[in-house]
Amino acid sequence: MHFSSIPTLGVGLAADVSGVLPNYRNFLPPNSDTIDYLSFGAHYLQLARVKHYIDDLISLGLPIVFHPINFNIALEESEDPEVVSRTAAIASHCNAVWTGQDVGIWTCRGQYLGSFLVPAIFDERSALEVAKKVRYLNENFPCPFLIENPPVTFSLETMHMLDFISVVAENADAGIVLDIGHLIGYQQATGRQVNDMPLGRFPFHRVVEVHLAGLQFSRIGNDTNIIDQHAYPVHDLCWQFLERNIDRMHNLKGLTLEQEFCEDELVLTHLRKARVLTRHTGLFS
Ligand SMILES: [Fe+2]
Repeated sequence: MHFSSIPTLGVGLAADVSGVLPNYRNFLPPNSDTIDYLSFGAHYLQLARVKHYIDDLISLGLPIVFHPINFNIALEESEDPEVVSRTAAIASHCNAVWTGQDVGIWTCRGQYLGSFLVPAIFDERSALEVAKKVRYLNENFPCPFLIENPPVTFSLETMHMLDFISVVAENADAGIVLDIGHLIGYQQATGRQVNDMPLGRFPFHRVVEVHLAGLQFSRIGNDTNIIDQHAYPVHDLCWQFLERNIDRMHNLKGLTLEQEFCEDELVLTHLRKARVLTRHTGLFS
């Protein structure tokens, strides 16, 4: 299935399937402030866990977006067929509307790297290798597989991350998950001004999903470090980027509040703000 056929979902919440901080069930009917979909991440061996926590919601038809975490999308080498088939099985089981993962190296010798991931090398050759991997994953998934711009704390590059994602997406004919916090952190990590981005040539028409979260600022020597932080309130810089650019995203299908470890009260304020913003654009009418 091509990303352009994805239906519009609306405003969603990324949370652990257990419902612990936040409890996404507090944003489902009959409550008044509701989410349009649930997004969750899972290891390829966690189908039983997913079944345990959300089979009732799957049966009720709650739209699901699934975020795999095990693929080394930045590497040309083949994925383990078991990882592919078991990850695809989770997507199938929950009738995922789409899936998407950050372009990086997430595992090494069987170990999950988590926040210690290694980003892709941002150059033309790497982009073409990644595009090949993304095509393969799309051929083996029951729903579109999208690419997300990764969190970056250091960069080996000859091109801006947005240009890299653009080359991958065009060559794989794939949709994009645009993580605004990852993008702002990348700007800082690579010594760029926050607004010094090549947005004029970015294929916004391929953006299917936007990720919004908080930003964690810290000082390392004389430098400021910024990382995407799901447990923090959505940062004003992220809201501002979205407000300035959402009108370019004609194919946006979902705005995901990435809120793992946020209190429900905080999620509520974000949800209401996201509703106001997207109502204004008419994208999710
Ligand atoms: Fe994200």
